[in-house]
Amino acid sequence: MNKEKIILEIDPGIDDSLALISTIKSNKYDILGISIVSGNVDSTQGCKNAYKVLELLNHQHIPIYKGDDLPLKIKYTDARDTHGNDGIGEVYFPDKLHIQEKHAKDFIIETLEKYPNEVIIFALGPLTTLAKISLENKEILKKAKHIKIMGGSARVHGNCSPVAEYNFWVDPHSAKIVFNLGLENITLYPLDVTYKILFTPNMREMVRQFDTELSKFVYDITGFYVDFHWKQERTLGCIINDPLVIVDDLNNIVEFENADIDIVEEGVARGESIVDFKPSGKVKVAQKVDNRKFFEYFLKTVFNDQINDVELMFKKEMI
Ligand code: BDR
Ligand code: CA
Repeated sequence: MNKEKIILEIDPGIDDSLALISTIKSNKYDILGISIVSGNVDSTQGCKNAYKVLELLNHQHIPIYKGDDLPLKIKYTDARDTHGNDGIGEVYFPDKLHIQEKHAKDFIIETLEKYPNEVIIFALGPLTTLAKISLENKEILKKAKHIKIMGGSARVHGNCSPVAEYNFWVDPHSAKIVFNLGLENITLYPLDVTYKILFTPNMREMVRQFDTELSKFVYDITGFYVDFHWKQERTLGCIINDPLVIVDDLNNIVEFENADIDIVEEGVARGESIVDFKPSGKVKVAQKVDNRKFFEYFLKTVFNDQINDVELMFKKEMI
């Protein structure tokens, strides 16, 4: 069977790294490239972090393309408070910069031209690169088979302000440009569903017991995230937003409602996603998720060598 062609547009980032791992480990995708946007960390550090995952999984052949350093119009604010100084939980794996000469923007444009209606873009960071692409060519994003975005909050509290989620808050002008295109191929995974994706201390302990290079990586990079969640909101464990987009693409574990979406660019509501739910809405917005199923699929995919143990832990209701 032909594998689905995809572009991963990410800002790794702890949860972005987990999304990248699950994408590779699923073995279901033809990953045409990883494009890195500034978000959790600047795009240079993001490229280095993506390469660490590729090295870990022995997939160094996947090309990495660097995007811009800054948001479209406003001052850049990273999320190192959440993801650690190195962006992946202060584990400080050696930094190596292995990137393509081509800019992330040009890579995406050329790929969509080459494979019209064949490529899924998973956009798990700020929408800077996608906005810049559409400023150059208003029609180009129509050529994506789907654009699956993690960002925004519809009916729940934000994580940067009462109304704004980080990916849209950090570059609201870009988010607005993308949603104002009126595209019909966008699916949005807001905090409404990703907040439910809590990687619990028991799951993390199971991962530690696996004692492999990969399990150590997952255990180590999530430690900082766990501490952040405790300090910030008295949550035990950590919320791993981004892999939900991948796991749902593979397993359909989310329910959607249609909506039209606009983004607030400035002022007290900066980055708010205004989600107007209605049957004629152009964007599919995730509103319900089976989080147990998410973790079954996610853990079995990432730790497919320990699948029996994962199943057993679910059966014994220990995770
Ligand atoms: C989003 O912001 C980032 O910190 C995460 O990687 C995720 O994409 C959640 O608000
Ligand atoms: Ca992200």
